[in-house]
Amino acid sequence: MAASFGAAQVLVASNRGPVSYEVREDGSLRAKRGGGGLVSGLSAIGPDTGALWVCSALSDGDREAVRRGVGEDGVRMLDIPADVHADAYNGIANSVLWFVHHMLYQTPLEPVFDAEFRRQWASYETYNRAFAQALAEEAAQGAAVVVQDYHLTLVPGMLRELRPDLRIGHFSHTPWAPPEYFRMLPDDIAGQVLRGMLGADRLGFLTRRWADAFTACCERFAGGLGGTRIGVHGLGADADFLRARAHEADVEERIVALREEIGTAPDGTPRRTVVRVDRTELSKNIVRGLLAYRQLLEDRPEWRERVVHVAFAYPSRQDLAVYRDYTAEVQRVAEEINERFGTPGWRPVVLHVKDDFARSLAAYRLADVALVNPIRDGMNLVAKEVPVISEAGCALVLSREAGAHEELGEDAVTVNPYDVTETARALHEALTMSPADRAERAKRLAAAATALPPARWFLDQLDALRDGARD
Ligand code: F6P
Repeated sequence: MAASFGAAQVLVASNRGPVSYEVREDGSLRAKRGGGGLVSGLSAIGPDTGALWVCSALSDGDREAVRRGVGEDGVRMLDIPADVHADAYNGIANSVLWFVHHMLYQTPLEPVFDAEFRRQWASYETYNRAFAQALAEEAAQGAAVVVQDYHLTLVPGMLRELRPDLRIGHFSHTPWAPPEYFRMLPDDIAGQVLRGMLGADRLGFLTRRWADAFTACCERFAGGLGGTRIGVHGLGADADFLRARAHEADVEERIVALREEIGTAPDGTPRRTVVRVDRTELSKNIVRGLLAYRQLLEDRPEWRERVVHVAFAYPSRQDLAVYRDYTAEVQRVAEEINERFGTPGWRPVVLHVKDDFARSLAAYRLADVALVNPIRDGMNLVAKEVPVISEAGCALVLSREAGAHEELGEDAVTVNPYDVTETARALHEALTMSPADRAERAKRLAAAATALPPARWFLDQLDALRDGARD
């Protein structure tokens, strides 16, 4: 039996992997390595430790790579049929589970759990099973497996059945819904999700609040946690990486271009900046952020010509109409503000919707105020990154519904994300904060934001998973 076990001692499983492929015009494949906390976290355990990352093929290029047997060491990409993946990823993970955990439904008309939902759910099960089987094949006896996110809630339970010898962890990068909202799911589906998760030895969450919500759901709908342990690991920003990357040549170039777009106030001083950078997800609350900025210009005419809202709203999950519509609404409101207040020499909102990491870092460096006002967010790394990079030390306007608020709330200007009037006032307060106060707060924000860098974050989870007695 043991002879059939794989060799990997540490395994990570996530829908999106650390590498993606593109088919070039000449038919060759180009590999692109992604960044992010998990990638740097995993690199911390070193190349010789027999670690394996199991992920899904997401694009035609990825599927072609799997078929040609092209791959990176330490990565196994699963060629799940495109229609099954689309049902599981777009239909269930992003349109149901994401909506439940971020509490995004407009409940008079949605959700509707009908036959189509059941059909997509069956794909979600198939997709989770493909991961569980691949992990069972690849894991060495007693190996540690860390499963990521809401895409893969059923994997721990399925894997436990296939391989009772493994140490299984699961980490949620999103919030978890409170019981009153979670129970919106059909009872059998809610039960399946909770039992799937409880197949793990240990479950990780970004904040105590999300961990408590999960525990409450288990107490209400699954008879408790059983033997599963719960841990909180608040992923922090990677200060060394960010500080170095933010001073590379491409970022310097973007700074020059951005300064040009921002321009100078009538008195010749550089205009102040309110910076936000988001993937355009419905939970990010970009539209209300723009409405608050409009309110600021309305209520406080002294800011006209003297401030610019630099808003980067990068594409996310564009297969879903509701995401595309949201991007269109962001563009419409930004345009409306520019038409209402703009002058020949002043564009009040500088909006970019094309992803450009170097430009994001340039905006971070120039930020006077960072606006992070999500409706609900697992953590929000932008709130942690801007204070580390901003040159003058930024003030942070932060939603109390972001996980990051648990760690940064004391030195931020806190807002209720639905209260546009309060957010407008908070922007004014942040813009008028004395330079000394701002710098002091930014220093403390940066220290809190980098307290648990990605490598430590990952190793802590691994240690806790292997050491059953720690929690
Ligand atoms: O930010 C929360 C999160 O769940 C991340 O953990 C994950 O990488 C991402 O969202 C998934 O986004 P995408 O649909 O672009 O893969």
